[in-house]
Amino acid sequence: MDMHVDLRPIDALLTRRSVGALDDPAPAGSDLDLIIDAGLRAPDHGRLRPWRFVVIQGEARKAFGDVLAQAAKARDAANADGLIERHRAWPLRCPLIIAMGAIVQAGHRIPETEQILSTGAAAMNMLNAVHMLGYGGIWVTGVNTYDAQVNAMLGFMAPSRLVGFLMVGTPKSPAQAGERPARAAHITYWTPPSEGLR
Ligand SMILES: Cc1cc2nc3c(=O)[nH]c(=O)nc-3n(C[C@H](O)[C@H](O)[C@H](O)COP(=O)(O)O)c2cc1C
Repeated sequence: MDMHVDLRPIDALLTRRSVGALDDPAPAGSDLDLIIDAGLRAPDHGRLRPWRFVVIQGEARKAFGDVLAQAAKARDAANADGLIERHRAWPLRCPLIIAMGAIVQAGHRIPETEQILSTGAAAMNMLNAVHMLGYGGIWVTGVNTYDAQVNAMLGFMAPSRLVGFLMVGTPKSPAQAGERPARAAHITYWTPPSEGLR
């Protein structure tokens, strides 16, 4: 099946929507490579290359669900809201999860914030690549992104950390056109103060 959609790059940026209701097929092979490569094109101060992507698919999703359930139990053994089983089932909601994290170098001349921002830029490039290839995806965080046990299981020991999960697959239904916020609410044109610069 040809999953490719013929879009001008700018149209792809302008039409991308987050899609949470996802089915098979997920990108694999050269499509998955392209998505990862798009992530690896993120801007990166100091060439630290902090980005790490952990692909969770197929049967591994089930084991990852067990990890999330264990972490939920450690956070709340009483399982007050029945969250343990909800976390266990969560990875099975989509065919492919890409856990995205930053290998953070503490005390480096490049501030930690910039290392994490670069990983966020990689996430955005990947999300756009998912859309451009005709798939759907959503960037989610939730409690698991901030759970030390989950971070460690995916290879992120502090100060390294997850920035979230990219859930990827084929949209169950066509995405609705996205509303964009009013441009005027988000942009001003700076002018120097009328009394002049001191
Ligand atoms: C860092 C980050 C974390 C997010 N975490 C969640 C999340 O945990 N759950 C969720 O439903 N949406 C989350 N979102 C929002 C969605 O990714 C998405 O942006 C939102 O649903 C709006 O959809 P749109 O991208 O089509 O405008 C997060 C977004 C960002 C940037």
